[in-house]
Amino acid sequence: MTDVGIDAIEIRTGKLKLDLPNTFAPAKGEDPEKYTKGLGLNASSFPDTYEDIVTMGANAAHRLMEREGLGPEDIGRIDVATESSFDNSKPVSTYIAGCLEAVFDGEFSHANKGERKFACLAGTQSIDDAYNWIKAGRHRGRSALVIATDTALYARNDPGEATQGGGAVAMLISEEPDLVALSTEQGYGSADETDFLKPNQQFPSVDGKRSVQVYLSRMREALEDFESVAGRTHTEDFTYIPFHTPFPGMVRKAALFGYRHMIRDTQKEDELAGEIGRQPREEAFDDDGTFEEALSEYMDGLKRTDAYQEWYARVVDPTLSISREVGNWYTGSVHLARASALKTAAEEGRDLAGERLLVGSYGSGAQAEIHAETVQEGWTEKIEAMTVDEGIEKRYDLSYDEYERVHDVHNHDVETDADVEEFTAPEAEFVFDGWGRMGERKYRFVE
Ligand code: HMG
Repeated sequence: MTDVGIDAIEIRTGKLKLDLPNTFAPAKGEDPEKYTKGLGLNASSFPDTYEDIVTMGANAAHRLMEREGLGPEDIGRIDVATESSFDNSKPVSTYIAGCLEAVFDGEFSHANKGERKFACLAGTQSIDDAYNWIKAGRHRGRSALVIATDTALYARNDPGEATQGGGAVAMLISEEPDLVALSTEQGYGSADETDFLKPNQQFPSVDGKRSVQVYLSRMREALEDFESVAGRTHTEDFTYIPFHTPFPGMVRKAALFGYRHMIRDTQKEDELAGEIGRQPREEAFDDDGTFEEALSEYMDGLKRTDAYQEWYARVVDPTLSISREVGNWYTGSVHLARASALKTAAEEGRDLAGERLLVGSYGSGAQAEIHAETVQEGWTEKIEAMTVDEGIEKRYDLSYDEYERVHDVHNHDVETDADVEEFTAPEAEFVFDGWGRMGERKYRFVE
């Protein structure tokens, strides 16, 4: 059977940065550690005023295709995953294909283009669609381009404001991939929820605290469903576990629940229960008040054990290095987490070929998907070719006043001109170029 998976990846951050402890926290009168320690974030990325989901996606895809020596004739499918779309009919992939056709010799005339929506989960769903398309033999030797692109904005003073972000991840899905191969091992947790939604509005309506609980519940169900296909999971089965990362503090919670699930009914659970002074099982709490309170004491104890902390530092923490600096990118976020972990391993000179990842994707509304991937022989070269560090490093550091102006410019409810203040100079990239006759957004490539 031919392997199918992610062959190459490119990450494009918005070119502006909002420093959370030094700029956002003083303006909000909050303790900077609420953001750095509580949420686990140092900064957010924002698109400059000439950037948007199309330019970020097209710029990531352009760089990826150039690097891989590909032209439009090599791509049979372009799927864009986004929850920041500005058009209810024409998919963002057509805008991105239009941009790319202006710089490549050729057209995507025979490619299938679409737009995928299920909140932050849609990037992973697009990869699944591409996998199925290739496995079904309908691809005629071509690859699929999956682009997860979002400007994740909340209304000002919403509790989610600190978790904003903006950027795009472009991925090439191919036969015999160099980065990771997907497998048929996959599980879902899905339920009709109203924790985070945008009913014909740009900024989300969010029940933040509840959204955290819904994330954890759907992720647990997805893990159980995954195990029904793949067999029981154990803490040492996976080199890294990248999760959807709205903010690293969310992943800290998910990882703890995942760890507890993986050690259940094992000798390790008994050993740690001795160290914690509690058993996690219901029957052990009879004389100790309610089950929930006692379970929460058990979980607090588990979090402090050396065994858990060592596992978390090795398997989960390396997935958070990019997110900490850029915030939530919605559909791209779990793909940043995978890239962060592999980048860390490459920097440490490790050889991961043949090792496995467990990827936990999530979208509000709500659905989680857990699947396994195997790292491929060519992974180091593909990860080292990414230009994400340079993009993060070069961002313009906004003052709080500038941040407010940028936030207004990216509010789709307000129609803006292309000539609003720019904070950086475009450099060999696609830029937003104003509005067309029928209300469409227009783009051009700046040399
Ligand atoms: P909040 O109410 O402002 O923050 O918003 P908080 O008071 O809960 O504090 C956050 C953490 O910081 C807490 O830690 C505090 O203890 C700690 P925890 O108890 O949770 O471990 N803290 C401090 N730590 C150190 N020093 C301090 C300090 N102060 C507080 N001085 C909330 C938090 C998550 C509700 C908010 O950010 C929010 O609404 N975010 C948006 C929704 C969200 O991201 N939900 C996550 C799950 S849903 C999801 O992931 C889907 C999503 O990506 C969308 C999609 O799928 O499309 C959002």
